[in-house]
Amino acid sequence: MSLVMAHGVGRTVELPDGTPLEILTDVDLEIAEGDRVSIVGRSGSGKSTLLNLLGLLDLPTSGELHCLGVDVRRTRSGTRDRLRGDGIGFVFQQFNLLPGRTALENVQTPLLYSGGRSFWQRERIAREMLDRVGLGARVDAKPERLSGGEQQRVAIARALVRRPRLILADEPTGALDLETGAEVMALIESVADETGAALVTITHDPSIAARSTRHFQLTAGRLETRDPDAAATAVTSGPTSGSANADGVAA
Ligand SMILES: Nc1ncnc2c1ncn2[C@@H]1O[C@H](COP(=O)(O)OP(=O)(O)O)[C@@H](O)[C@H]1O
Ligand SMILES: [Mg+2]
Repeated sequence: MSLVMAHGVGRTVELPDGTPLEILTDVDLEIAEGDRVSIVGRSGSGKSTLLNLLGLLDLPTSGELHCLGVDVRRTRSGTRDRLRGDGIGFVFQQFNLLPGRTALENVQTPLLYSGGRSFWQRERIAREMLDRVGLGARVDAKPERLSGGEQQRVAIARALVRRPRLILADEPTGALDLETGAEVMALIESVADETGAALVTITHDPSIAARSTRHFQLTAGRLETRDPDAAATAVTSGPTSGSANADGVAA
């Protein structure tokens, strides 16, 4: 079954002076359970805007978008909030953990909103999830005491503790060194494999993009399929491609 069906989706915002800015144009995308999708593109090409639409954090201004079985432009915000909480897990570049709260408290947070579980059940589920990401011994550590890689593991545990069907990762390895980034990515993938979730990863890193099975590129708000082999060549082929494009992605 399709988790996401986007057809002709656009997102236009109005700038303070009243001029419209078209961030996304005519985006077509279908995502099924278990899919591994990567989206690359230069800064400002609309990647986060697209991910926010897929994650029901924002609404398209044109086109048709179905997410988790609903036509998002015809839903109430409360419905979108519930669908997002039940079905979507986000992982961000900057982890976005609650400071001053332990790893365990951070991972329990999404369970507070789902109801139907006792304090002890929530704690047990969160502990199991932290175990799963290799942090069983750090449940009481606060984010400021954890390394970047550890913080991202906590964020992954928090994103996946409710077993979402759709995992949206916005440059999840962007703040990590290459090796830690690859480990973090492997962790997201293995949890996604266990639950059959679809995974959409936005990345600047060709080696991270290469791990997906469906490859896309956003160029000035337009989404196109990408040949990963061709792009890898473009990124590494010339002296200009690396220096002229800070994103490390062929434009
Ligand atoms: N609410 C908004 N108002 C005005 N401009 C926006 C808004 N959201 C995004 N933009 C602009 O749209 C472009 C795409 O943003 P974004 O989706 O964050 O790109 P990316 O994630 O690819 O770097 C950027 O130029 C950004 O400044
Ligand atoms: Mg972005």
